[in-house]
Amino acid sequence: MIDKITDLLRRVEEFKPKAEAEVEEFRIKILGKKGELNALMEEFKTVSPEMKRELGQKLNNLKNRAIERVNELKTSIKNSSASTSTIGDMSRPGTNDPMGTRHPIAIVKNEILAIFERMGYTVASGPEIEDDWHVFSALNFPPEHPARDMQDTFFIQRNPDILLRTHTSSIQVRTMETKKPPIRVVCPGRVYRNESISYRSHCMFHQVEGLYIDENVSFADLKQSIEYFAKEFFGEQAVIRLRPSYFPFTEPSAEVDVSCVLCGGKGCPVCKHTGWLEIMGCGMVDPNVLESCGIDPKKYTGFAFGMGIERSAMLKYGVKDLRLFFENDVRFLGQFDSAL
Ligand code: DAH
Repeated sequence: MIDKITDLLRRVEEFKPKAEAEVEEFRIKILGKKGELNALMEEFKTVSPEMKRELGQKLNNLKNRAIERVNELKTSIKNSSASTSTIGDMSRPGTNDPMGTRHPIAIVKNEILAIFERMGYTVASGPEIEDDWHVFSALNFPPEHPARDMQDTFFIQRNPDILLRTHTSSIQVRTMETKKPPIRVVCPGRVYRNESISYRSHCMFHQVEGLYIDENVSFADLKQSIEYFAKEFFGEQAVIRLRPSYFPFTEPSAEVDVSCVLCGGKGCPVCKHTGWLEIMGCGMVDPNVLESCGIDPKKYTGFAFGMGIERSAMLKYGVKDLRLFFENDVRFLGQFDSAL
């Protein structure tokens, strides 16, 4: 019986059909109900128990290989006949592969970076998994600050010193620690906050942080830079206003509003009838922060700002639900294509 199995296996391997019908004929002859393999299976019932194991294994291998070979032969014959039959008409129009589009967050991020690059800024980045020092301590957050609370920040359970960054201001710290002034960087990145998901908030989103440190940098420089950005990003008609605010890492601090992109400042539901939309936080880098990062606050001053990319994209494109940016529905994503 071993000889029969070996012989059949050899014939399976050596079989070279020219047409699909031949393969089918071969399949019936070997694998069909009344085929050679089933005849061997019948014979197998009569072999002695000590041979059963070895022969059973060989028979099984034979069967699997025969099925595999038949399938291989069928596809290779199909493919070769397909390629010869379609080669005929070379003038037929080709099929277009659908083009992908850039994600709106990437488009807006690139646009923001390009505006600051024109002002001489370079791009810096940092890790999303951070330590307490770079996200909070070096930025002058007091120990009892609410942002350090589990309610707001995702901590790594086994080590509360490790956390997901809640803002890209951590990249400011990393930049100041490793570079000497003059420093002019914009830092885009994803940030995480322990917030419930709704049309206007998410547990992850994107920010761009900016930092400018040199001798004699003033609040007037900050205002001028933000105004230039606002006009480039929202259009020449955009005007800005600064409202006093508080951040632990800047003193003085301000929040920046831009005249409403929809009503031009007259008042509408989007700006809640105020005529203004908040776009970023900013301020003069607190001397404590400079000192923590190894920069002499007596010699250098600087400003910083931070803005949400989703928020800017929503204002620019009139998107009303922030969750759309993360759902990856191509019907939504395909509407924002741009050369950037
Ligand atoms: N880090 C702040 C936030 O996430 C944004 C911000 C405000 C950044 C003021 C700054 C700044 O650099 O000066 O809300």
